[in-house]
Amino acid sequence: MKLKVLVVAGDGIGPEVTKEAVGVLRSVAELGGYDFDFREELIGGVAIKKEGTPLPPATLDAALESDAVLLGAVGGNEFNALPPNKRPEAGLLQLRQALGGFANLRPSFAWPALAQNSPLKAEVVNGTDILFVRELLGGLYFGEPRAWDKEAGAAWNTMRYTRDEVTRVARVAFELASSRRKKLTSVDKANVLEVSQLWRATVTEIAAQYPDVTLEHQYVDACAMHLMNTPRNFDVVLTENLFGDILSDEAAVITGSLGMLPSATIGGAVNLYEPVHGSAPDIAGKGIANPLGAILTAAMVLRYSAHLDQDAQAVETAVRTVLEQGYRTADLVRGQQGVSTQEMGRQVHLVLSELIDRRQSMHAV
Ligand code: IPM
Ligand code: MN
Repeated sequence: MKLKVLVVAGDGIGPEVTKEAVGVLRSVAELGGYDFDFREELIGGVAIKKEGTPLPPATLDAALESDAVLLGAVGGNEFNALPPNKRPEAGLLQLRQALGGFANLRPSFAWPALAQNSPLKAEVVNGTDILFVRELLGGLYFGEPRAWDKEAGAAWNTMRYTRDEVTRVARVAFELASSRRKKLTSVDKANVLEVSQLWRATVTEIAAQYPDVTLEHQYVDACAMHLMNTPRNFDVVLTENLFGDILSDEAAVITGSLGMLPSATIGGAVNLYEPVHGSAPDIAGKGIANPLGAILTAAMVLRYSAHLDQDAQAVETAVRTVLEQGYRTADLVRGQQGVSTQEMGRQVHLVLSELIDRRQSMHAV
């Protein structure tokens, strides 16, 4: 099997954490005898500096020719004065749109070894395993009209969804719920917004096709509270674009660090993989960023693009093991010195090689 992976490491800590994620994919390829073909291109702030645009044509072409795109992060303080369509983030949004993936999967999992890391009580977070399905191509991010009319002193964006856009992402969420604990929470603001009423009506209609899944609806404000009070009650959470952006950062509190969260975007021509954390300019270049979000993102590449579920599980087990062994990056030991990004990657590699070796020798007997 040959999997063509385009690596767009981007800005800030993107290159540091992506290096460890690619390292993990290389280990899996080598140990498992698979053939991954990596290519690198520019995106975000580095692309603005070198090419004058956050998504250069060469990057877009390479992305469309690949089987999977692995992104690090985009953004930086020096671009803060630019309008949204000129910023590094615009490159990512254009890429998302071009690749066409509309279902952004963001798992939030309470790693047992990190129970003390969450500001929430261990008895609240223990056993939490949530999968957010965030709609990624609609809503306020892309809705028209949008503008800032400086003379009028007014600005507007549009939260727009069509029935088809809701239907396709709802199906993904129901399928995933059906393969898990069979509960789906759909999030909206249907007490105020027409777009949410369409969302709720459409999801309710689709539910009839998935009688094994229990559907509940929550308003986004209530959901934000329930996530902190009773996170274990959630299985799959389906949300529109902006609500999902906000709630998935909130859910990072359950794991103890935003640096732990991976994501995969499916449903389009090419799947896109990105850790949930951003470019973290304050710690960029120091070699202290947590690479586990990016490494778990690599596991999602293995699961959803390479269809190597056993290897994806091996990566996740390796992450669990290094955490149990006590390895922590700075974000996981507030104020104290943690291990470096590279050392964390090396530890994952060590456990992973052992796991894959053991599996192969079992197959050999
Ligand atoms: C995310 C990020 C992006 C988003 C930004 C960088 C455009 O916050 O992936 O969660 O808002 O979708
Ligand atoms: Mn975000």
